[in-house]
Amino acid sequence: MLRIAPSILAADAARLGEQLAEAERAGVDWFHLDVMDGAFVPNLTFGPATVAACRRVSSATLDVHLMVRDPAAWIDPFADAGADLLTVHAEVDPHLHRTLTRIRERGLRAGLAVNPLTPLAIVREALPWLDLILIMSVNPGFGGQSWIEGSEDRLRAVRGWRDAHRPEALIEVDGGVNRSTAGRAAAAGADVLVAGTAVFGGEGSIAENLEALRDAALHGARQD
Ligand code: DX5
Ligand code: ZN
Repeated sequence: MLRIAPSILAADAARLGEQLAEAERAGVDWFHLDVMDGAFVPNLTFGPATVAACRRVSSATLDVHLMVRDPAAWIDPFADAGADLLTVHAEVDPHLHRTLTRIRERGLRAGLAVNPLTPLAIVREALPWLDLILIMSVNPGFGGQSWIEGSEDRLRAVRGWRDAHRPEALIEVDGGVNRSTAGRAAAAGADVLVAGTAVFGGEGSIAENLEALRDAALHGARQD
């Protein structure tokens, strides 16, 4: 099932609770929470307190994307805050097996993210330990960037491996997903489309923006 995970990076932080509720009323059951440390990426966002605040007002799946240099150090704080899924970047962690295992030992689902030019071989290697594969379709750090051409090829490659070897894992794509790219992302094999600007900063209401994205995604979606 194709799913849209709104990224709260583009939400109005002063009205976060209201915006989450509005998205949930429009059928959203996942939120994507972008944690940036100002070191791995040149931007700083929020930490466990914001995740805990979302947890207090929402029962949706909280999908936490850790764009931090030392993800292993943050497993416990984000697990305690109520995250359901923790995704770490392949580029920062030489001990991925240990980190992914610890995330699961804490009862969370584990994800692995790869930047646009990171060799995909690491995803293939890590498959048995993954509940989610996150293909970055922009350079991480900021919302509102453009989809990097060629991201569809990377989605197709991991879709093949996932279908053959790890059908229970989900494929997520993050960055530049909007009405014109959602169909391509879905057609190339993504199960979860992260969208920040297109949901919270789009032309219409949150519900209208979600509807437009769903339409675009379903037009492009694979029929299998
Ligand atoms: C980028 C973040 C994304 C971002 C997506 O570093 O990981 O989740 O919020 O934003 P849009 O949808 O605006 O490209
Ligand atoms: Zn993200």
